[in-house]
Amino acid sequence: MSETLENLLHESRRFPPPAEIAAHANVTAEAYAQADADRLAFWETQAKRLDWARPWDEVLDWSNPPFAKWFVGGQLNIAYNCLDRHLANGLGDRVAIHWEGEPGDTRTITYADLHAEVCRAANALTDLGVDAGDRVAIYLPMIPEAAVAMLACARIGATHSVVFGGFSKDALGGRIQDASAKVVITADGGYRRGAPSALKPTVDESVAECPTVEKVLVVRRTGQDVAWDDSRDVWWHDAVGNASPEHEAQPFDAEHPLFILYTSGTTAKPKGILHTTGGYLTQASYTHHAVFDLKPETDVYWCTADIGWVTGHSYIVYGPLSNGATQVMYEGTPDTPHRGRFWEIVEKYRVTILYTAPTAIRTFAKWGDDIPAQFDLSSLRILGSVGEPINPEAWMWYREHIGGNRCPVVDTWWQTETGAIMISPLPGVTDCKPGSAMGPLPGIKAEVVADDGSIVGNGGGGYLALTGPWPSMLRTIWGDDKRFLETYWSRFAEQGFYFAGDGAKRDEDGAIWLLGRVDDVMLVSGHNISTTEVESALVAHPAVAEAAVVGATDPTTGQAIVAFVILKGGAEVGVAELREHVSKTLGPICKPRQIMLVTELPKTRSGKIMRRLLRDVAENRSLGDVTTLQDSAVMNLISAGMQSSK
Ligand code: WT7
Repeated sequence: MSETLENLLHESRRFPPPAEIAAHANVTAEAYAQADADRLAFWETQAKRLDWARPWDEVLDWSNPPFAKWFVGGQLNIAYNCLDRHLANGLGDRVAIHWEGEPGDTRTITYADLHAEVCRAANALTDLGVDAGDRVAIYLPMIPEAAVAMLACARIGATHSVVFGGFSKDALGGRIQDASAKVVITADGGYRRGAPSALKPTVDESVAECPTVEKVLVVRRTGQDVAWDDSRDVWWHDAVGNASPEHEAQPFDAEHPLFILYTSGTTAKPKGILHTTGGYLTQASYTHHAVFDLKPETDVYWCTADIGWVTGHSYIVYGPLSNGATQVMYEGTPDTPHRGRFWEIVEKYRVTILYTAPTAIRTFAKWGDDIPAQFDLSSLRILGSVGEPINPEAWMWYREHIGGNRCPVVDTWWQTETGAIMISPLPGVTDCKPGSAMGPLPGIKAEVVADDGSIVGNGGGGYLALTGPWPSMLRTIWGDDKRFLETYWSRFAEQGFYFAGDGAKRDEDGAIWLLGRVDDVMLVSGHNISTTEVESALVAHPAVAEAAVVGATDPTTGQAIVAFVILKGGAEVGVAELREHVSKTLGPICKPRQIMLVTELPKTRSGKIMRRLLRDVAENRSLGDVTTLQDSAVMNLISAGMQSSK
């Protein structure tokens, strides 16, 4: 990419795996050698970690690329693999979920409890007319019933489409309609920031416009009043509560559709990403075992994502439960009732593995080091990060203030489309560098390629490409093979590579650095500059808590850098000093034309900064679509500030 990138990538800090973790690691360096020697045999070995009702005839059918078939002819049941087989192994009394409600209510659910509840829900769904192959929309808060609903669908071969509980009526309706869902599973409401927040009214409005929906199954969570349609609505506690806890799971084909998940709306119309059964579970399960080094007898694992995102699918439901993990599930926000809530939960359950997102880590750093310092975090042994590039300073803060300088930090790169982790260090094998996802996991083929699709060597930059099929890859975009081909496979059609849409760089040691979406790469005076890179430089300044950078059209330089910066509480610094700081860190070409001090940034509900809106502001345009914003008032504040700074 550009020479300016060299500056950021002179990251000399490096942290080898702790001896204790390396000595007992689930996966060692040998896995890379095995996968290199015979990739398909490697994945075949990982598939054998699961119970199959019928073995496969062929590991991979790639005769019609990019439409892959993995474990052709094999049959299995996903819920059986996540539940029944653990019971058969005498693990029924193991805690599957320590659930913590936002108001402080708790539930302890063993594998036997979870099995019984999933069987009841499977019977109830069948009674409501759901058959294998039907689609079921799930619109729930972070309550155990969300996992139960997903597993019940999987158990009967229904394809679930989970829609994040924070999405609006239009977003929900669009997704229900696109998938022609027959049943919607929802709740009266959930708790958010200390108050009940309703869900059922949104479903009522959406379903009024979705003729395919026959039944709405409603969990009672908050007890708030709900409108009721007797011919359509059914209480969960009636239908599931009265159903039999006996249910025999039927096996399904390895390529049976497991779920559709719509990708978050930072760009155009959402895409229904389709995942299937055998390959998906193989990779979700293996990566959870390998990347988090899960020891199911002793670890307490906590992934803070919402079940409405792919992280919740693969690393709350399918990965951990297939591995027999004991995990924490939390309903609410990190600052309710106080800003130490996460650390209180870690202390209470003696959490050993924590998986969270850079946006949360930067927020915690902004709130202050003294908050986590009040809690006993000594149980932690492995920390994970996912969702966007993690700035080296945020990585270091996480390592020091949460991990006590003792825990490996695994920065895991993947996407809704990839289904499971693709690029990440292994905690017992890989030296970690703050800010780098390091390299592809065993069995995964990823490269940094130039514009023309040629593979770049160490020190080179360009685009991230996945250069071979992988078991948990998306199979298509629901109902739109053409868009699937265009979006992911046309850019490097000649080479047959998957285009991930992320900028990337290989450093001198061959480690991979993800630089954000390519639409987040700025072209300033002919130089490619990544927004992430400038953001990292800004966040490295002691006064800066968070930064978002966009390229705005500029008559002289093509694009100019405009930064929106949140200062740490109490910090005082001039804009000129910050510009100078970036210039010194990255070179004068990266000096922002303009820096705006703001108090909030516009984010999607999954925590991604909506640069598109900031670009609108920076270029004096009227704002585009704001419906996927977490808080739409934020933009008014920022626009007003921009005007007054002129
Ligand atoms: C995009 C996918 C994977 C689950 C959550 C997001 C960015 C994700 C990383 C990382 C740098 C990352 C990429 C990717 N991303 N993880 N560790 N380092 N970037 O899923 O909503 O499908 O978004 O998130 O840009 O393409 P998603």
